[in-house]
Amino acid sequence: MPRKTRVRRSATADRLLHKIQSRKAQLGVVGLGYVGLPLAVELGLAGFEVTGFDINEKRVAELQHGKSYIQDVPTADVRKLVRSGKLTATTDFSKLRKMDAINVAVPTPLSKMRDPDVSYIVAAFEHVARYLRAGQLVILESTTYPGTTDELILPMLSKTGLKVGQDFFLAFSPERVDPGNPKFNTRNIPKVVGGVTPTCTEVGVELYRQRLETVVPVSSPSVAEMVKLLENTFRSVNIGLVNELALMCDRLKVDVWEVIDAAATKPFGFMPFYPGPGLGGHCIPIDPFYLSWKARASGFEARFIELAGHVNGHMPEHVVERVSENLNLRRKAVRGAKVLVIGVAYKADIDDLRESPSLDIMETLRKKGAKIDYTDPFVPKFEFAGRTIKSVPLTPASLKRYDCAVIATAHKQFPYSAILRYSKGVVDTRNALKGKVSKKITRL
Ligand SMILES: NC(=O)c1ccc[n+]([C@@H]2O[C@H](COP(=O)([O-])OP(=O)(O)OC[C@H]3O[C@@H](n4cnc5c(N)ncnc54)[C@H](O)[C@@H]3O)[C@@H](O)[C@H]2O)c1
Repeated sequence: MPRKTRVRRSATADRLLHKIQSRKAQLGVVGLGYVGLPLAVELGLAGFEVTGFDINEKRVAELQHGKSYIQDVPTADVRKLVRSGKLTATTDFSKLRKMDAINVAVPTPLSKMRDPDVSYIVAAFEHVARYLRAGQLVILESTTYPGTTDELILPMLSKTGLKVGQDFFLAFSPERVDPGNPKFNTRNIPKVVGGVTPTCTEVGVELYRQRLETVVPVSSPSVAEMVKLLENTFRSVNIGLVNELALMCDRLKVDVWEVIDAAATKPFGFMPFYPGPGLGGHCIPIDPFYLSWKARASGFEARFIELAGHVNGHMPEHVVERVSENLNLRRKAVRGAKVLVIGVAYKADIDDLRESPSLDIMETLRKKGAKIDYTDPFVPKFEFAGRTIKSVPLTPASLKRYDCAVIATAHKQFPYSAILRYSKGVVDTRNALKGKVSKKITRL
């Protein structure tokens, strides 16, 4: 076994640790979205002075006025922090130079070819590199492929001539926030941190320890990057498996929901996943492809990821087939049918539309000639097929107007009994009508 050599911490690292422990460190958060804003607020509540950086002027202006635009972040917290001077927001990236620690949480989408699009990370780190100075801790939180921190970011920051682990400190820490989750939030979800050097890890851990309940150090940024991709690939593959089972059960005339509920009574070795209209959000439909892309670049084919992507990607089309079957019961064609999509957010009780399968369902039905409306209390309006469409009120009279209603997102506040009572037919993709027996219902 090679003997571990202990590297002496630089005086710069000691000073930074002291600033963090005494809450005197100036903290910057770059990218103030679903991930960045809750983090900025938590760090502000811990007593740090936090500056949020974003290219979106509207978001920055709202924060400057003490207003939250993220559902899970209470405006009362933002207002309190802004008023006490603990939270400010800016589009002026030259202020990065004043920061002692900088967390970056910018988007990591896929390109049109479904390859990683790291252009937001690169743009953000061009700013960070321009204003980098000795004594700064920099942490990337955006989900990305293993190797991003070491192979992409470190060279950008090292060009300044500053030495990592001595002059500045660099780490990756995946974000696991689950919007809309009433139990787990930024503060009580354990935070994994992997630094480029042991000192980088130590300083990163110390920062999060000031506010988060559990911090889990790992040996490198690549391990930390891979942790997030394992978690999200695990979900994508298991959802893919259960979606395939749902299609299989349909052929076998077995109720897949009943099967899952009964299987879930096993107290060990089984974890329930549920079928649905397809994947949504900024994580599960996207992140696994960051991993398969990286694997492909090393000559490795990530077959589970591709297969799960294929099965999950087919689900919206399957829902459209179900709509067609449901309409068929009343001798209606899809063309010309009035269809109401109930729920457009990608999951229950949140307002996020990104990658929502409801949009694919609506688009496919529209192309087949159906007349589409939607209802969603969390999404009053959005751009669809080149125009702004508005959520229709969910009333007995409005429900009666449609040939078919599709429950695509099971928001808790929907009146499911009324939906069933007043609709001519219902396609239930979420088992929201569990226990109800009616010829009107077509289940997934
Ligand atoms: N949303 C989630 O539930 C979730 C959960 C875990 C991890 N993540 C990951 O966290 C990262 C951020 O996701 P998000 O959901 O917070 O995205 P978001 O779109 O909600 O927020 C990103 C913010 O970054 C800003 N931005 C873009 N380019 C910038 C730049 N160059 N400089 C400064 N700001 C810039 C945008 O204006 C936006 O306000 C992604 O990698 C995502 O995969 C998201």
